[in-house]
Amino acid sequence: MFKPIFALAASALALASACAYGAPAQGPILIKFAHVVADNTPKGQGALLFKKLVEERLGGKVIVEVYPNSTLFGDANELEALIKNEVQLLAPSLAKFENYTNKLQVFDLPFLFDDLDAVNRFQKRAKGRQLLRSMEDHNIVGLAYWHNGMKQLSATKALQSPADANGLKFRIQPSTVLDAQFKQLGATPIVMPFAEVFDALKDGTVQGAENPWSNIHSKQLHTVQPYITETNHGVLDYMLVSNSRFWYTIPHLIRTELEGIIDTVTYEVNRQAEAANQADRERIAAASGTQVIVLSEEQRDAWRKAMQPVWQQYEGAIGADVIKAAQTVNRNQRD
Ligand code: SIN
Repeated sequence: MFKPIFALAASALALASACAYGAPAQGPILIKFAHVVADNTPKGQGALLFKKLVEERLGGKVIVEVYPNSTLFGDANELEALIKNEVQLLAPSLAKFENYTNKLQVFDLPFLFDDLDAVNRFQKRAKGRQLLRSMEDHNIVGLAYWHNGMKQLSATKALQSPADANGLKFRIQPSTVLDAQFKQLGATPIVMPFAEVFDALKDGTVQGAENPWSNIHSKQLHTVQPYITETNHGVLDYMLVSNSRFWYTIPHLIRTELEGIIDTVTYEVNRQAEAANQADRERIAAASGTQVIVLSEEQRDAWRKAMQPVWQQYEGAIGADVIKAAQTVNRNQRD
């Protein structure tokens, strides 16, 4: 006798939850995709391609709105907004998830990955894929890894050896690993949202930063940084994330189509990221006012030795198994 009432209540609850999480009974599902970089970057292009393919394949059922350049949410509040379902897709740098998991700190360890191909191999292996699920307790689901590129060090003075960074202030992303990395050099790391980096470099609040070529060029950081040392000392990649309650409330057929679109976009972003970074490197090298410093193997080894002690500090938090799995993807194995 209570069954119909219970069933009615249950379906009302499911409907309320579906509506609250973006799958209304009628009308299209709205996906707001916010990010902090420009359109002409690997992530910016990925967001636009996602929107285009959704329009082509799911027109009328799903609407995508893309907000680049921190115009909807920025570093300080985007993940909280995702958890509150005020935005449905983000692709923060892997350095920005520290409040939700320690496992992703592996990507910030300096000189862990030899190059972007090694990063790619790690992300495709079982350990890398497991990390996409490492924030489920916070209702954050990882949908894909997107590449940007390897980071370079820029400054107001020429950074040839680690000692040259001593005493300088560097902008960092909100990552204690990156904080420790710069402290190893005797430098002062300052956490700052990406949207503020250009002004902070221009007005001298900080004297240096670490960025991939595409972020340097798209934000014109090289115009306020006379020296860029090609260190390739770490990676700046992204995790495409959604609110898991929102994501799993999307009707199955639509979600499957969205996941197929994400696979296509991920393939394109990751196929083009390295070339896009190299093209931006050439543009910067050709621009007057910025010197690109290329290190010898010996010089690069000195940077590695100066920064690498950070690994030990974070082994407990990240897990020795995760670090080991990441190390094995390099073609040149070293201890
Ligand atoms: C980004 O590429 O999303 C920004 C990374 C940063 O904050 O440096």
